[in-house]
Amino acid sequence: MPKECPVALIGQKFMGRAHSNAYLKAARFFDLPLEPVMHTVAGRDAAELQAFARRWGWANWTTRWPDIAALDAVRLVDIGTPNHVHAEHAIAMLEAGKHVACEKPLAGTLADARSMRDAAAKAKKCRTFVWYNYRRCPAVALAHQLVRQGRLGRIYHVRARYLQDWGGPGTPLLWRFQKKYAGSGAHGDLNAHIVDMARFITGEEITEVCGAVAETFIQERALPDVGPTGQIAAGTKGSRRKGKSDVDDCVLFLTRFKGGAVGSFEATRLATGNQNANSIEVNGEQGSLKFNFEDMNLLWHYDVGTDRAVQGWTRIMCTSAGNHPYAGNWWPDAHVLGYEHGFVNMAADMMRALGGEKPVVPLPDFADAFETQRVLEAALISARQRCAVKLSQVR
Ligand SMILES: NC(=O)c1ccc[n+]([C@@H]2O[C@H](COP(=O)([O-])OP(=O)(O)OC[C@H]3O[C@@H](n4cnc5c(N)ncnc54)[C@H](O)[C@@H]3O)[C@@H](O)[C@H]2O)c1
Repeated sequence: MPKECPVALIGQKFMGRAHSNAYLKAARFFDLPLEPVMHTVAGRDAAELQAFARRWGWANWTTRWPDIAALDAVRLVDIGTPNHVHAEHAIAMLEAGKHVACEKPLAGTLADARSMRDAAAKAKKCRTFVWYNYRRCPAVALAHQLVRQGRLGRIYHVRARYLQDWGGPGTPLLWRFQKKYAGSGAHGDLNAHIVDMARFITGEEITEVCGAVAETFIQERALPDVGPTGQIAAGTKGSRRKGKSDVDDCVLFLTRFKGGAVGSFEATRLATGNQNANSIEVNGEQGSLKFNFEDMNLLWHYDVGTDRAVQGWTRIMCTSAGNHPYAGNWWPDAHVLGYEHGFVNMAADMMRALGGEKPVVPLPDFADAFETQRVLEAALISARQRCAVKLSQVR
């Protein structure tokens, strides 16, 4: 029988659901040294929390998140709140001796991210994790492994784009459009994922942002209808009154990598026709790889060494047990996985790590996510000052 790992969760909306599902399923589909036990969920709305706890199987709920620090039983605290409170929540829990799993981006600002990295380094007995969940799509994990095996040889290009289209003028002023809550817009939300994915797949650090463009096309948005407890009502279209959106709608930038490769990154919420097109292509001397989350079970591989007569992109369905990461814990070949499986795979790997075993592929901790945050910051400086920014200048 695995030992138990009591977990507490702060935040009970979008990521609250994804993480709850992950803790529910991890020990059903994986043999783990530790089994997550859903101890307490914290949020702001008592009525919603009670219903949420009942639906998802949390034993307790509280509207006072700091109380979690005093719960001796709880070993891992999971943070699924907006970016401006990640540092406050994470540092309080690290100081209370808890392991912490935090949503991405690590924080809204580089200063917050730095204080989180430093608090994690100080809390020597605590492990930290950041929910860069796309690392745990089997296709992305396979790309990481293939690059490690040297299948691409020297890497020349990284081409990453994360395109969504939900942020048009009809979308109200949610927290994601306000700097004081989000830190940045599409940049921290979406570029964060593809910068992490590029670093993860190539194993190389970005050394310079050579140039960047940031644009806020929609500068005013309708103020959202706010529910009785100060939360935005579900399905809101917003009121007639307007407020200022002070974050980017899109950020594009060019980079250099330590190994000599060059990269391009683009994140936007206004790419009409693209709903969740999180994609990356890596071109190397020996071949290429490409992935698009909208077809998340597929990895495309191009092998320079194949006979030219039959050479082309190979479509790999990453669902073969024993051949593809995580596939053996799920369904038969081509019985495809979805968004939630990346989170379950990550919860399983966190339990492995806390139980003294190796995760299937590396888990990002606060120090690792801080490196992604430095790249994001460098791109914002580059866009603002219209100049190249070396990562050595962003600390
Ligand atoms: N990994 C991913 O793919 C992914 C996807 C979406 C969001 N996220 C990240 O997850 C985090 C949460 O995003 P979301 O989409 O779940 O947001 P959301 O708005 O759906 O939910 C936020 C939750 O936090 C609670 N909350 C807000 N302020 C709080 C405070 N001060 N104290 C306690 N609780 C508070 C809210 O009540 C709500 O339950 C963000 O950091 C976001 O960037 C990650």
